[in-house]
Amino acid sequence: MESLVRGQAVLKFKKEAIFLAIYNEKIVGFSSIYVENPEIYSLFVSPKFTRQGIGTRLLETLKQIALYKKHKFIYVNSSLTAKIFYSNRGYEIIRESGFY
Ligand SMILES: CC(C)(COP(=O)(O)OP(=O)(O)OC[C@H]1O[C@@H](n2cnc3c(N)ncnc32)[C@H](O)[C@@H]1OP(=O)(O)O)[C@@H](O)C(=O)NCCC(=O)NCCS
Repeated sequence: MESLVRGQAVLKFKKEAIFLAIYNEKIVGFSSIYVENPEIYSLFVSPKFTRQGIGTRLLETLKQIALYKKHKFIYVNSSLTAKIFYSNRGYEIIRESGFY
């Protein structure tokens, strides 16, 4: 999990805010968003800690950043597995894409 988070910081061409969920001094989840163009770059919760509301809280924190910056939309390139998670939180599909 820690190496995943460090990987985020490599992309330094865009201003990115990163939030961590910590339990017993260990990172159990993280989220990040590009601050100027409001796109979620990552949202991840360790499988042992899912379905406890951590992902929702991490997503809510990203929303607060976007609101603070007065953005009207937040974009996310969602994985198939997270599609329902986002749609249950008000996100809408604007385009479907895939890997070819
Ligand atoms: C998608 C992901 C971030 C969700 O994280 P999470 O911590 O499980 O999210 P939450 O616990 O807030 O919500 C997940 C479900 O658990 C349920 N839940 C939340 N708290 C709960 C609790 N205390 N007890 C039981 N269920 C609960 C929610 O109802 C939610 O279901 P819903 O979408 O039908 O409402 C996580 O599964 C993940 O990291 N997936 C792999 C990576 C990925 O696909 N990331 C997205 C990339 S764009």
